[in-house]
Formats: sequence, C-alpha cells, structure tokens
Amino acid sequence: MDLERYLSEKSELVNRTLERLLPEPEGYAKNLAGAMRYSVFAGGKRIRPAMVLASTEACGGKVEDAIMAACAFECIHTYSLIHDDLPAMDNDDIRRGKPTCHKAFGEAVAILAGDALLTLAFEAAADSPGVKMERLLKVVAELARAAGYAGMIGGQVMDMESEGVDVAFPVLESIHIHKTGALITSAVRCGAIIAGAKKGELEKLTGYGEAVGLSFQIADDILNVEGREEKLGKPVRSDKRREKAAYPALVGVVESKRLAEELLRKSLCAIEGFDEKAEPLRAIARFIVERRN
Ligand code: IPE
Ligand code: IPE
Ligand code: MG
Ligand code: MG
Repeated sequence: MDLERYLSEKSELVNRTLERLLPEPEGYAKNLAGAMRYSVFAGGKRIRPAMVLASTEACGGKVEDAIMAACAFECIHTYSLIHDDLPAMDNDDIRRGKPTCHKAFGEAVAILAGDALLTLAFEAAADSPGVKMERLLKVVAELARAAGYAGMIGGQVMDMESEGVDVAFPVLESIHIHKTGALITSAVRCGAIIAGAKKGELEKLTGYGEAVGLSFQIADDILNVEGREEKLGKPVRSDKRREKAAYPALVGVVESKRLAEELLRKSLCAIEGFDEKAEPLRAIARFIVERRN
C-alpha cells in the first residue's frame, strides 16, 4: 500500500474542509481568525484526521461521513500545540517550521486562538450530515473526554509537573498515554463509531489506538534527541534542556526504539482480524515509529 499517496490524498481533503470551517480573517475578530488559520495551515502531518478516516474505512464506513470529525481532531490537536508552545508551558519559538503562534500574534491572541479552535472542533463534529444522531453524540462525548481532564489536559499537567523531577517508568508511561495517546486512541474510536462498528471491532481498534498513541509520543521523544530542526519544524534537544520526563532520558534511545517496535507489533496484532480495508491503519502504525518528521 502506498501510504505517502494515501496521506497526501487525505490531507488534501482535510485541508479543503478546514478551509471552509475556519473563519475568514475579516470583520471584528480578524486577528483571531488570522491566528487560527496561521497555526492550522502552517503545516502538520494531519495524522490524527487520517486515522479517523482510516478507521472509518477499516469498518466499512464512508470517508465523507467522518470528514467533519476528522477535522475536529485536527482543530483540537492544533490548539494543543499552540498552548503547549506558550511561555507558561514549553516556551518554544518554532512550530511547523514557522514562529509559534504567540511569537507571531502575541500571547493573548494565541491563547484565544487555541480556545476558539477547541470549541470549533465540537461545532464541526456535531455537524456531520448523514451520520446517525446517537453516533454523533457518542463521538462528541468521546472527543471531550479524550481532550480534557481524563486525557490530554490531564497528561499535559503531569508533563509540566514532572519537569526536573525523577519520575518512575509507570509515571512516564502514564504521561505519554494521557498527553498524546488519548487523542489518538479517540481518533481511531470515533472513526469506528461513525461507521457503526460492532462492540468487538471497537475493542480491537481501541487496543490498536492505545498502542499506536503511546508509540507516537515515544517516537516524538526519540526525534527530540536524534532529529533535525529543519525536518521536524520544531526545536530539538529541548526535552533534555527542560529536564522533561521523556523515554530516552529514562531508558535510553536504544530501549526507547525497542519499546516503540514492541508497541507496533502490539498494534498490528490487535487488528489482525480485519481485512485489507485496514491496510492504511497498518501502514500508519509503521509510519509512526519509523518517521523522520
Ligand atoms: C506533535 O504532533 C505533538 C505531539 C503530540 C507529539 P505531530 O507530530 O502530529 O505534529 P504535526 O501535526 O505534524 O505538526
Ligand atoms: C505533546 O507534547 C502533547 C501535546 C501537545 C498535547 P510535547 O511538548 O512533547 O510535543 P512537542 O515536542 O512540543 O511537539
Ligand atoms: Mg509539552
Ligand atoms: Mg512541546
């Protein structure tokens, strides 16, 4: 399967839809709309929306039914990056190869652009014509849970509170499962829910999503040590400088790579029973641990 082609086709579709969804930079809050667009269209792999769509397809669903939910995940992800880069958090100056949102628009507008993207996500997810109401309701609840206290935000707090602290391995794992894994798992689950997946299918895909979600952040940690800023579009070697709780610092790069490979096997094993419609999901899992950006 040609994953590069798959991802580029899905990105184009997601970008076209985001283009329609995001407010135009005109009128009373044009600076806010400008900041939202700036961060969303600065770049990004669009891996979470691709996972929503790939999961829908794996369950026999239609891409057009899941496109709004896919864009909702990208809105939440981009908001999380804007806030993650703020001086009060990771204090980074470069994201997606450009000055971070707060560098370009100031802190207040960056905070508000994040807020507006978060709420836009729910507006978009709820507006999926053709999808049964009860499925949509489940998707909205899933998205809220994964993005909030019990998921990403909880993880971000653990991440901040672990700076400069010696954390035990289970704590590190829990940080990554929450700050990054939760949203990715939810992307896979929401795609499946939209397609009307059966309970057993949803359970298997949840196992896949959890393994892939954790491996995603381990790979991100490894890239922070081994990657290049030009390729990643964000600073490298910053985890060490900030004494972040990260896999390479705790278990070393070699063991981090081994653990990521183990998670890849686990994720593939979880969806073994799916047919060829799950090939994009399999290829995405591989891409996530092998990627260079
Ligand atoms: C970066 O995510 C932040 C993490 C959760 C590790 P991505 O690597 O998906 O960032 P973009 O969307 O491609 O910029
Ligand atoms: C990723 O955090 C998690 C979220 C943004 C929610 P990181 O701080 O590890 O990600 P990068 O390396 O800045 O992209
Ligand atoms: Mg961070
Ligand atoms: Mg960061």
